[in-house]
Amino acid sequence: MDMSTAIASTPTVDWDGNAIIALDQRVLPTEIATLTITAVDDLIEAIRTLAIRGAPTLAVAGGYGVLLSAHHRTRDGMLDEHGLRADAGRLARARPTAVNLGWAIERILARKPLNVHTIERETVAIAHEIGQANETLSRLVADFVLTVCPRHPLKVLTHCNTGRLATFRHGTALGAIRELAARHRLGEVLVGETRPLFQGARITAWELASERIPFRVCVDSAGPAAIASGMIDCVIVGADRVCRNGDVANKIGTYSLALAARASGVPFVVAAPESTIDRRLASGSEIEIEMRPVEELRWCAGQRTTLPAVHGYNPAFDVTPANLITAIVTEARQYGGPDQAPRIVRDPLAGLPGVPSV
Ligand code: MRU
Repeated sequence: MDMSTAIASTPTVDWDGNAIIALDQRVLPTEIATLTITAVDDLIEAIRTLAIRGAPTLAVAGGYGVLLSAHHRTRDGMLDEHGLRADAGRLARARPTAVNLGWAIERILARKPLNVHTIERETVAIAHEIGQANETLSRLVADFVLTVCPRHPLKVLTHCNTGRLATFRHGTALGAIRELAARHRLGEVLVGETRPLFQGARITAWELASERIPFRVCVDSAGPAAIASGMIDCVIVGADRVCRNGDVANKIGTYSLALAARASGVPFVVAAPESTIDRRLASGSEIEIEMRPVEELRWCAGQRTTLPAVHGYNPAFDVTPANLITAIVTEARQYGGPDQAPRIVRDPLAGLPGVPSV
């Protein structure tokens, strides 16, 4: 079996009745390794070290984590709910920026009655909804991009990794890019390598190669200049958390791409499911940005890249303000449009005057 077939047939994250089975995303693309996780602390470690990663995938992993805890904490049919909630709280804090992990755990804990059966059913429902949302939003993002970018074949820039592995099924921004390719409207994708952990160079590149979609990888600092040079028609990225005012947290490096896109009049489109919208947060200043260990900056590919004890600054995400975003497209609607920044309102049906819905 070749690498592509092997990965395509390996679930990103799954439940085998006793344990969580997950593809270890740390070692891609050179190795396919599967983790069998039987303890909540091992799952937390796998999430912290990005063996399991990507906002929607973390939602499903969180659900199976609660299920794992419930299995350990059920004796003679009685669930120790106090212990379960403590495990769930630790799990939800494993990565703070992407809303999806905490969102899924909260949704599962709200089930009544709470037991292994209801937890498993809710997790499977979440996984199913995520898959459907991703497929729909990929089509809608492609529709939107084609309305704002008349020139074909399109040159698209994307950042980080938003394919099946990050999103559990199908992909968000990368799903839209595949959709554009399927419609024969895509020329080439420029992929930011995504320092420090190379999700773009390692995983997006692998996913695009396996789909035979033309792409090149660039260092992150080349992205803004590529946009300014006129070689990019559209930037399409995913999101880890979207606030009520349309501010978007995404992988570090996204903000500089949005600034460059605005300066050059290039559309900047965010592809994300409705579950990534956090209506509790008014604006991006309220988003907790995860700080990663400095060690990630001190080493690269087994080599020291700087002085051994150098101080570092290693945020995993940044916030792109709504006024730099052309539109946020979800499976349900489109926020914003060519002439205005997206704003998310509390009542998803209310909309804003002049904001077209899809
Ligand atoms: O730190 P990661 O790899 O979990 O980062 C998440 C991402 O892949 C991106 O920020 C992405 O756009 C959101 S997930 C579709």
